[in-house]
Amino acid sequence: MYTENPLAKVIQDEHVSGADKSVEEIAAEAREAMAENRICLVRDFPLDPDRYLDFLGRFGEPLSNYSSLSALAKTDPHPQINRVKYKKKAEGAQSVHYVAGGLRPHSARSWRSPRPSHFAMLMVEPGWREVPAGERGESVVLSWYDLFNRLAERDGEVFEEHFTRLSGTPITFEANNVREELSNLPVLYPLADSRGRYDVGVRLKQDLREKIVGIKDQIPEFEAYQKSLDYLLAASAEEQFFACFPLQSGDLLLLDNHRFAHGRLKIVGEYLVDGETRTNNRELWSVTVH
Ligand SMILES: [Fe+2]
Repeated sequence: MYTENPLAKVIQDEHVSGADKSVEEIAAEAREAMAENRICLVRDFPLDPDRYLDFLGRFGEPLSNYSSLSALAKTDPHPQINRVKYKKKAEGAQSVHYVAGGLRPHSARSWRSPRPSHFAMLMVEPGWREVPAGERGESVVLSWYDLFNRLAERDGEVFEEHFTRLSGTPITFEANNVREELSNLPVLYPLADSRGRYDVGVRLKQDLREKIVGIKDQIPEFEAYQKSLDYLLAASAEEQFFACFPLQSGDLLLLDNHRFAHGRLKIVGEYLVDGETRTNNRELWSVTVH
């Protein structure tokens, strides 16, 4: 279904192999792939927190994870690694990453200033996947540059109007559980090394539609802005525009966080085997890098 997307093919065809290589060697190959595509898949990367952070440290500074900045459960394997794992519903605060639903394409730390340059995920355990495609927790990536070029072609002036509004309206919004310095950039912001008019950075939060209601006062022509944001959210969730494929254990996906959104299709949190409830043991380690 989603594997037809040309980006999914490029990412998988041009992957770097991590088998029997030092972190330094893997990073050198990944750097070349990043210069070319701004996104890189490394296969057979060791499932080791220290080597993962050593690798990422060659692209910037790995940021502290959410739980060290928030009141959520602190079960992460390392202070800079977010363990994304399904947990049975419990009392109290629940991070969005524990919900068994999908995650719409979004940016890492969309609220934060300065904007983090990279985002990475390392699949540790792909979990229970004996379900139809689209419910296996397949990873989603979206190239904003590709999206905007295609929307410009498809929607012409309608697109231009939304693009201009989202590029020209600075906003400030907060994270739900984390306190960090806040950005006041527009949702679409300029990049120093831009390749063209539509090569902009994007900071999109999954629930930005709900968030902006609380900051109505800072947004001129609020209703028009809301329409532009809805347009962006709808387009970014259209299957034809995003790349989607399942990550295997040892797959490390590194991406330019200005230029790519990440997300996930649905996962089944709990399922029955011989009348017994089992919990999906899918586990992914994500890190934001600046
Ligand atoms: Fe995320």
